[in-house]
Amino acid sequence: MTLKLGVLASGRGSNLQAVLDAIDAGRLDAQVVMVLSNRQDAPALERAALRGIPAVHLPPSEYPQRLDYDRKAAELLKSAGADTLLLAGYMRLITTALLDAFPGRIINIHPTLLPAFPGLHGHRQAIDYGVRFSGCTVHFVDEGLDSGPIILQAVVPVHPDDNEDTLAARILKEEHRILPEALQLLAEGRLRIEGRRVIIE
Ligand code: GRF
Repeated sequence: MTLKLGVLASGRGSNLQAVLDAIDAGRLDAQVVMVLSNRQDAPALERAALRGIPAVHLPPSEYPQRLDYDRKAAELLKSAGADTLLLAGYMRLITTALLDAFPGRIINIHPTLLPAFPGLHGHRQAIDYGVRFSGCTVHFVDEGLDSGPIILQAVVPVHPDDNEDTLAARILKEEHRILPEALQLLAEGRLRIEGRRVIIE
C-alpha cells in the first residue's frame, strides 16, 4: 500500500531527497504528504516547498512541553494524511504523543551500526573508539534513544586517515540506499516486529 509519509527533519534533508528520488524513480511506493521541522532554516523545508509538499515549521518555543509539541505535530501530520513517519535527521527526542499516534509506524535513520554509538556525533564516537567498520541503521522508533527494532543496516570501512567528514560521506551514500529500501519493505507489508527482531517476509 502506498505509504503516506510525514517526514520530520531538522537539517539539510539529503535523506528526504533520497526518498523523493526513489519515489520518482518508481523504486518506492510512497507519497510525502508533509515535511515538518523544528527549525525554520532547515533546508529540508525548502526541498519540500520546491516540490509543492506542505512544509511546516513548528517552533519549539511555542510549545515548551515536549508532549504538547508532539501532540501538535501529530495533529498536523495526521491532518495531512500521514500514516507513517520518517525521522530524517530530526534532532529531537520524540514522546509518547507521537509514538501513540503512529504505533509501529515511525522509522529513523542513524549513521552508526546500532546499538553502537547512539545519540549525537555518531561518526566522531566511532572514530574515537577506533572501530574498523561503521555504517548506518534504519530502525523502528521506540521510547528509547536510537533503540528500536532494526530493519536494515549497511557496513562501511573506517580508514586510518578518516575524519568525521570523510566517514560521514561514505556512510551517507549507504543511508541514501537503505532508507528507501526499508521504506519499500514497509510499503509492501513485509516487515513484522517480533520482540526486538524485525522479520522480513
Ligand atoms: C544523517 O546522517 C542521519 O543518519 C542522521 O542525521 C543526518 C541527516 O542528514 N540522523 P540529512 O538531513 O538527511 O542530510
